[in-house]
Amino acid sequence: MPGELSPIDKAKFVAARKSVDYVEDGMRVGLGTGSTAAWMVRCLAELVRENGLRIKGVPTSTRTAELARELGIDVISLDEAKWLDLTIDGADEFDGDLNLIKGGGGALLQEKIVATASDQMIVIADVAKEVDTLGAFPLPLEVIPFGWQTTQALVEEMLISLDVMGRETSLRMNGDRPFITDEGNYIIDLHLNRIGNARQLAMAVNQMPGVVENGLFIDICDVVIVGHGNGKVEVRDINEGTVEESRLDFLEEENLFSDLGE
Ligand code: 5RP
Repeated sequence: MPGELSPIDKAKFVAARKSVDYVEDGMRVGLGTGSTAAWMVRCLAELVRENGLRIKGVPTSTRTAELARELGIDVISLDEAKWLDLTIDGADEFDGDLNLIKGGGGALLQEKIVATASDQMIVIADVAKEVDTLGAFPLPLEVIPFGWQTTQALVEEMLISLDVMGRETSLRMNGDRPFITDEGNYIIDLHLNRIGNARQLAMAVNQMPGVVENGLFIDICDVVIVGHGNGKVEVRDINEGTVEESRLDFLEEENLFSDLGE
């Protein structure tokens, strides 16, 4: 029930709920990954069920694809869609220029491909994700399993010449085995603490053979919808330079919570 949600979950929920206002009939929509994006998929599915909204969803992970199908959203592949009207996704950090760190859930590669193939990317986030400078959240790198330790060593060496505050790196684990992405790759998390020049870092790490993609999303996000635990929602549009505030009521949303197992 909504009353039992933590303030963070309420913040994620209201951001997600607001984001579906941007979805119009007939759109092809990129569906992000993570707990905030899962709220958005539920809100979208409710519009499909209750209001007859017709959309095609392109998921950014097998997790999201399963959820969307289960809830009755028409799911297609990116190659079928070719180009998307809108992608809505969560983030681990965003800064004042709406640059992001993503990949906490390990789906950064598909997320970046899908967002880049969209007219617009809307990020939904609780207010705790906002930072002055990116980097407190570990930056994920998706790497090819072949020679991953060599890739890790080369990345560590490269970090010496880059404007970062920490240089530790770690292989992401799933229990006692490496975490495997949907593309069959590993994730190396970079514990940088502060990224002085995100654009330079993103370009440098992607030059490294073995690195498939990094979790920095630079100049990709157009709008961030920031949710607060008290129901306040801010919509920040980087292209329009606008910030709009509104408030959402949890009580209207009981349908969405009734089938939640967790
Ligand atoms: C997954 C992501 C997520 O969007 C990010 O980790 C935020 O997740 P959450 O909404 O659960 O806080 O990038 O790869």
